[in-house]
Amino acid sequence: MEGTPTAGRRSGVARPVARPPGPRGSLLYAGIVARRDPTAYFEGIVRDHPRLAHLRLGREHVYVLGHPELVQELFVARGRALRKGRALERIRMLLGDGLLTSEGERHRTQRRLIQPALHGDRIAAYADDMVATARAYDTRWRDGEVLDLAREMSGLTLTVVGRALFGSDLREETARVAEALAALLGGFQRHLLPGADLLLRIPTPGRARMFAAIDRLDRLVRELIERRRAAPPGPDLLSTLLAHLDDDTQVRDEVMTLLLAGHETTATALTWTWWLLSEHPEVARWLHEELDTRLDGVPSYADLDRLPRTRAVFAEAMRLYPPSWILGRRTLTEVELDGWTLPAGSLCVASQWVLHRDGRFWAAPLEFAPRRWIGPDGRYDEAVPGQPRGAYLPFGLGARICVGLAFAWMEGVLVLATLARHWDPELAPGQKVEPLPAVTLRQKYGMRMRLRARR
Ligand code: HEM
Repeated sequence: MEGTPTAGRRSGVARPVARPPGPRGSLLYAGIVARRDPTAYFEGIVRDHPRLAHLRLGREHVYVLGHPELVQELFVARGRALRKGRALERIRMLLGDGLLTSEGERHRTQRRLIQPALHGDRIAAYADDMVATARAYDTRWRDGEVLDLAREMSGLTLTVVGRALFGSDLREETARVAEALAALLGGFQRHLLPGADLLLRIPTPGRARMFAAIDRLDRLVRELIERRRAAPPGPDLLSTLLAHLDDDTQVRDEVMTLLLAGHETTATALTWTWWLLSEHPEVARWLHEELDTRLDGVPSYADLDRLPRTRAVFAEAMRLYPPSWILGRRTLTEVELDGWTLPAGSLCVASQWVLHRDGRFWAAPLEFAPRRWIGPDGRYDEAVPGQPRGAYLPFGLGARICVGLAFAWMEGVLVLATLARHWDPELAPGQKVEPLPAVTLRQKYGMRMRLRARR
């Protein structure tokens, strides 16, 4: 039943729950559209229902939050009444009970253990690793060479995480991880839709590929742990995990989580950044001007504040192509939102893709305009574009905000600064560009680009 807010709320009277209106049409039709173009599907829902929409997904009741006020209200003020949504329930197959997927007290304990390694002074120590890794690509790249920058960035960020967090050299493993992830994430979308439980029990080739990919990653993670255990403990996060967790499965789950969450998203963001720069030569020139005048040799931690344009370019790329494009939660209790009562067990989603491109909150929303992040004093400032709180969420919000946020910002800026100083890649002829909204917003056809040396 659709109705007005608060209808059906009289306690003790068994009346159907009143729900906000939502998209019409058959579930089958919605399923097909959502599968083919999920970002457009959610954009359409928010266009027609700008604050809150309700729809059915199989037996699930789904609420789509289209307004930042409601996103803040639910994810921050009512955070305690939520657990992770459907996608993360599924991704447990791969990540087990690591920081991204765990709940309640276990999550709080794990967060307390892991967060210090990714915050404050500790991350300054990773800057040199990040720059050294980017420099290795800088010296290997050849003028005129065509490379898939999605692969390059994925190899680069995996190597950074390996060195910084696990004290391990993963350069040899990058191809193995990239293949397993492509097999896994590409097909993952199918497992989020109604009927997925059944699909997983049917022995299809897709299912076999998925489990083989999980197996490959599992072996890599166990090798990584064994290698680290065999060497003397160091200041890295893996040594901390080994010292504090007695359960091998728990160490495995945390390492798998940090390895995947810690590289795939940053790689995706950097890849979109390269493409956006190639499409907007005037922005590339604006960026190069900063790198040519502000950097004295190889970038370092001390340079971070001197590179507002580099940061703005990375921020703007994550606005238009947010690596995490949708956030989902399930309500644990009944929740009041915008005058409606959401029953316990409802699914709530908010899409960064939609919020980041909404003309109600952004001027020239579809334009790649990094200057919007620079204040009159020439500094980068997340408040300058004037968007309301909750309209820019590349790293999520509330208690489950990305634990690697500071690490990712630093990595994005330092890698971009190191490489864009010398390189200005252009799209390879015939390369199609389309987002693939799987768990992260990947590049559907990769991103083959021709490297152009700047000097
Ligand atoms: C551009 C890069 C990145 C983006 C866009 C990103 C985005 C996000 C988002 C949106 C969430 C929240 C998910 C939710 O609420 O359901 C999240 C959580 C998380 N991220 Fe990131 N992330 C990035 C980089 C990193 C890095 C570098 C690390 C590790 C070094 C990392 C580790 C994690 C972990 C462990 C969580 C779960 C935190 C918790 O639930 O307590 N991420 N990330």
